[in-house]
Amino acid sequence: MHASSTRYSVCSISDLPEGQSKGFRLSAFGPDDFFLVNQAGVIHGYRNSCPHWPGATLPLKKGDYLDESARYIVCHGHNALFEIETGRCISGPCLGERLTPLTIEVDQSGTVFILTHTASL
Ligand code: FES
Repeated sequence: MHASSTRYSVCSISDLPEGQSKGFRLSAFGPDDFFLVNQAGVIHGYRNSCPHWPGATLPLKKGDYLDESARYIVCHGHNALFEIETGRCISGPCLGERLTPLTIEVDQSGTVFILTHTASL
């Protein structure tokens, strides 16, 4: 069976400085569908859905995906903390569960893409 995917141009890596996160949506309105984090120059991306309550969004306010130390992704629902590089919950009610990762590509010009099945976000 052939699985096709879509490649979305999301932003320039210069729009996402190291140690920061940013949310994106594919529709005109509503909460972010997914978010990216720049950790030491490596871009990680996850769906904006907490494994504690699937469908629950993580940030209290738009773009606020990291804890105060900027070392972990935080869900403000019940303060779960997730490793940036793996999406694994290391503290909170969904301990050991994972955020849903996205496949990320960065081309030579610094444009960040996500690869996804259209219906998966
Ligand atoms: S909804 Fe995310 S920790 Fe509860």
